[in-house]
This record gives sequence, C-alpha cells and structure tokens, in this order.
Amino acid sequence: MRGMLVAGNWKMHGSMHSTREWVAMVKAISSPTCTRVMFPPFPYLSTAMQVATSDEVAMGAQDLSQHAEGAYTGEVAASMLQDIGVEYVLVGHSERRQYHAESDAVVAAKFLAAVSVGLRPVLCLGETLEEREAGRTEEVIRRQLGTVLDRCGLSAFSEAVIAYEPVWAIGTGHTAHPDQAQQIHAFIRSQLAGRDAKLARMTRLLYGGSVKPDNAAELFSEADIDGGLVGGASLQAVDFLAICAAAS
Ligand code: 13P
Repeated sequence: MRGMLVAGNWKMHGSMHSTREWVAMVKAISSPTCTRVMFPPFPYLSTAMQVATSDEVAMGAQDLSQHAEGAYTGEVAASMLQDIGVEYVLVGHSERRQYHAESDAVVAAKFLAAVSVGLRPVLCLGETLEEREAGRTEEVIRRQLGTVLDRCGLSAFSEAVIAYEPVWAIGTGHTAHPDQAQQIHAFIRSQLAGRDAKLARMTRLLYGGSVKPDNAAELFSEADIDGGLVGGASLQAVDFLAICAAAS
C-alpha cells in the first residue's frame, strides 16, 4: 500500500550550518514506516547529501526548469538535479504560481521535465481563499490536476506524489480542518480514479498548510491523507521529527 511520507519544504530559509545540523539530527532517529524528504534551497542540496549518506532522508529540490538545457540564466535543469542525486522535486508550489506567474501549462511542462529524467514530482495543488469563498475549490483542483494529467499522461504519474496545499492555510496558522482536508483529498483521489483505479489507490496525497507537531496526528488519521508537506514547522529538526512520529 501507499505508506506515509513527510516532506520539509524549507523555502528560502536556512544556512549551510543549519542544514548540516538538521540532517545529522534527523538521520540519527530512524523512521522505518515513514519516508522523509527534505527540500532545502538549491545551494544546500549537496551539503545535505554529504551529511545524509544514508537512506534515512531523501533529497528534493524546490523547483526546476521546464527546459532540458540552454540559455536560461538562473534556471536549474531536471538532469542536473538527477545528476547530483536528488530524488524528488516540487512542481507548481503556490508560491511559484503566485510570484512567478507559473501557469498550469508551465507546471505540466515542469512535471514532464522531472519525469523524463526519473525524478519523482510532488505536484502541488490548492485554491486561494477567494476561490474557496466563491465555492470554486473543486473546480480549481480539477483544472490544476486535469491539465497535468492531460498533457503528461497517466504513465507520468507512476512515481508522482500530490500535495494539496490550500493557499489560505500556508504560513497563516489557519490549518484546514481535518474533515475539510479529507474532503478535498477524497476529491483528488476520485479525479485520479476517473482515469485509473490503481493509480488512485497507489498515489500518495500529502496535506500542506500550517502542519505542526500538535495538529499532524489528527490530519494524518484521515483515510486519504498520506502525510504532509511542511513549511515553517520543518525548519526545526525536533518539530519535523515530531510530525514524522505522528505519521508513523
Ligand atoms: P507552512 O507549513 O509554513 O504553512 O507551509 C506549507 C507549504 O507551503 C509547504 O510547501
């Protein structure tokens, strides 16, 4: 079956020192039933991997280019991430959609770029507060997910993870109620089931948005929540470990 996964998205936080300390602390506590992934800023990926030296913590990048290579100053190619041993990559995080104008089409192109070199994409979906209040949550999720499914195909999803991150819950302290999150996770799974029943059963669906040590267990007890994508609370290794314990 699916198994739990907890991921720490550091966003633009941390240092070489905090990266070393964090990995050393996390790898010291083994986690046989929960996959752990860290998403540090690009410059600290190699540092993290030098300290990790084990399967205890998998590495992920926060973004990638939709292009394979070329004159794209500042961009990072999927093949470069794969080359240094990165396993996962976030695709379509709401902060990329919001501040870098990433459209559903760009997100789909990045998803395909990741899959084409064997990276596992973590596809982020989620509605804004305005969209939720207008009763458009399912419509938004259907469009965001549908575009990637249509453009990349079902086979591209075999190693993918999906993260539901309601934009209004990110960094606000307003966690979605577990029932609210479960409802959308079930909706996402039903969208997958409409394409392929096995894919729907096998795909891990993470919840993200103000996950903390004190609310993680309740969220993770929901039937369709297979772990979390954690921002702020992942920065301190002790908090991240507590959230992983809630998933174990
Ligand atoms: P917070 O946990 O800080 O709300 O961030 C969630 C997120 O965006 C993870 O990708």
